[in-house]
Amino acid sequence: MSDPVERDAGRLLPAASGTGPAADTVDVWWMDLGQFGPERQVAALSLLDSGERVRHAAFISEPARQQFLAGRALVRTCLSRYGGLSPHEWRFRVNRYGRPFVDERCGPSGLYFNLSHTEGMAVCAIAGFGEIGVDVERCDRHAAIEELGETVLAPAELAQLSALRGAERQERFYRFWTLKEAYLKARGVGLSRPMADIRFDLSAMLPSVAFAGVVDDAAARWSFRMIAPGAGHIVAVAAAVPDAALRLRVFEATLP
Ligand SMILES: CC(C)(COP(=O)(O)OP(=O)(O)OC[C@H]1O[C@@H](n2cnc3c(N)ncnc32)[C@H](O)[C@@H]1OP(=O)(O)O)[C@@H](O)C(=O)NCCC(=O)NCCS
Repeated sequence: MSDPVERDAGRLLPAASGTGPAADTVDVWWMDLGQFGPERQVAALSLLDSGERVRHAAFISEPARQQFLAGRALVRTCLSRYGGLSPHEWRFRVNRYGRPFVDERCGPSGLYFNLSHTEGMAVCAIAGFGEIGVDVERCDRHAAIEELGETVLAPAELAQLSALRGAERQERFYRFWTLKEAYLKARGVGLSRPMADIRFDLSAMLPSVAFAGVVDDAAARWSFRMIAPGAGHIVAVAAAVPDAALRLRVFEATLP
């Protein structure tokens, strides 16, 4: 099977193509927050709407404030590569679980996105359909496997972890974790579904899923991908593209 991930094709993408990715495709834009210095932060803030500025000002934690700012500026600049509006013109609404989506007042953009940020990285996934989810985590820091394992992992996943040690065990945990978060974010339901009822198998080239308990869904509806765009981070993407047929294009993003 050929590599289903195209990397750094961003150089080939027109600045504003006017349409979203094809129906079987998700574009993943990742940004290294090490490059998000004071000048870029000022420029990013000028892109945010009033509601976002209120949220930005309310953060107590400075790193959390910067991640939020970078994430929202990333979403806006990414959408503008496809949608014909300037970055500051996009308006968003949220569903009952807090998932943001493009407000229909922006016109029929046909664009959908999901955003994730963590220490050192922000990632925006863009698709032409709504069930798209992304999660980024640092995988080079201690994972609370003993505390969280039984709550978030299915028995078969726990069994896989028990055969591993050290960094390999930690990385495997983060793989499970990001895949589950990406799936829940694609569904838009937040953490209102038990993670242990979503079971991933990582033994083949592509992750596959099985659902149990209250997670009422069909595995064949979904595709999952994992990428490691920068040292120390992993990204999982979940997309409602049937039979694992998703095409992923990966771009490094920089803000103006
Ligand atoms: C979705 C969620 C799990 C992500 O948390 P996280 O892993 O800490 O953060 P990430 O960086 O990966 O993602 C955060 C981004 O996801 C997006 N997001 C927020 N809620 C979301 C949801 N329900 N579904 C999909 N994406 C969501 C937002 O863009 C958010 O970034 P922003 O606030 O800067 O715009 C968390 O925000 C959450 O649990 N929210 C829902 C709470 C909930 O379920 N409430 C009802 C309980 S019944």
